[in-house]
Amino acid sequence: MAEISTSHATPVRIPLETRELGVLQSFTRMRENVLNIIPQVAVEQPTVSGRTVRRWHMIMEPASIRRMLLDRVEAYPKSVVTKNLLRPAVGESLFIAEGADWRWQRRLAAPAFSHRNIAALAPVMTAAAERSAERIAGAGKRAVDMAQEMTAATFDVISEVTFSDDGSFDRRDIHRAIDDYVAEAGRVSLLDVLGAPDWVPRPARVMSAQTMRQMRRNADAAIEARAARGPGDVPDLLDLLLAGEDPKSGRRMSTGELRDNLLTFIVAGHETTALTLAWAFYLCAFDPEVQDRARAEAQGVLQGRAATGEDVAQLPFIRQIIDETLRLYPPGGVISRTAQEADTLGQADIQPGDTVMVPIYALGRHRLLWEAPDDFRPERFADRKAIDRYAYLPFGDGPRICIGASFALQEAVIILATLLGRFRFTPVKGRDPKPVMILTLRPEGGVWLMAEPV
Ligand code: HEM
Repeated sequence: MAEISTSHATPVRIPLETRELGVLQSFTRMRENVLNIIPQVAVEQPTVSGRTVRRWHMIMEPASIRRMLLDRVEAYPKSVVTKNLLRPAVGESLFIAEGADWRWQRRLAAPAFSHRNIAALAPVMTAAAERSAERIAGAGKRAVDMAQEMTAATFDVISEVTFSDDGSFDRRDIHRAIDDYVAEAGRVSLLDVLGAPDWVPRPARVMSAQTMRQMRRNADAAIEARAARGPGDVPDLLDLLLAGEDPKSGRRMSTGELRDNLLTFIVAGHETTALTLAWAFYLCAFDPEVQDRARAEAQGVLQGRAATGEDVAQLPFIRQIIDETLRLYPPGGVISRTAQEADTLGQADIQPGDTVMVPIYALGRHRLLWEAPDDFRPERFADRKAIDRYAYLPFGDGPRICIGASFALQEAVIILATLLGRFRFTPVKGRDPKPVMILTLRPEGGVWLMAEPV
């Protein structure tokens, strides 16, 4: 089993595999941690191809990635198995729809994520940062698990901007159910993406069809109640989708379509943002110099108050820390597609039906693309133009790029700046997290830090 590796120079990482693994070994090790099956050559070569029952390719070459995600996007739809697995949770929503079915939903939802609307949601993020600071202060001299704390903080935000003030059901139930489902579905889907045969044990389904039906009924009732009541003073994502229509066809979303898309935002947005922040705190505790510089910036701008949407542009170094965190520990670890046509991507000979992956984790640590790739150096993002767009893809790219990227970045900067302005974070000896990727890249064991008020 790969041991977690750390030194004074590089933050925690999993040494990649240098041996060739057999099929059974691959599946067993992948179930523990997908990082276990990313080969070392994936950070040294532009492409890696193989067959584990099904043919697969890993593409780490910026020009080929651009071809896949942008120029020939129709030939590389999202992989079939991922869709089959997510469909029971999020229906035919934005995340998994293809072609015309996808296009109209994306056109309708895009304005909800415009700069103006996201800026208007910033007070929700500021309030969540403030509550998080109170909880951390309440821990006193006890260590805090910042992974759990950030899950609570981002949960505050996503529930407030999806089903805010809806007393008709316990919104926590929906979020919990959906998070559990995705955690388990993630395990299953990766086994299937790589073509694991049926005898490879799958975890039991966590959520019965009945629980799922009940959850959807609750969400539908909340949506209908909102539609009857009308929007609040500051429209949240539900209000914006309710008011939205496809500018081309004039089509509006039915209750079921609204529900599936709101559940998608929770699925795609909640854990990913929490993980970004958890890893950012880990890295700041790992490198006290970076943390001090970030604190000086935060305190200079904020003077003790919590960060707002307007402050974000004044916090460039905090933003660089988030960018560098997403390079080293990208929450969405792998972009996966099923090829529809024969193609050539660098050295890889693509056949219809092949699984084609961009391992975002390996891309961010690639020897040919980054200097000192395993080091934590936020300042490498000081000049964004110097970075090849297709070498850095925490949010994907092309038309299927993450619709919530600006939302997530604004939230992460607000929370990180507020907390660094108020606390000094130091590691708890012997409790480094272990990077484990199932569908998302989690800090196993938690991010345990001491938080001292400053
Ligand atoms: C740091 C946080 C986040 C990360 C790292 C992240 C990452 C990603 C990635 C890599 C994709 C592309 C997947 C692919 O091409 O296969 C994606 C798509 C998507 N994300 Fe995010 N995401 C984050 C936050 C959010 C938030 C906050 C929301 C919504 C509130 C969101 C909603 C979506 C949706 C709806 C899609 C599908 C878009 C489409 O196919 O048109 N994400 N995300």
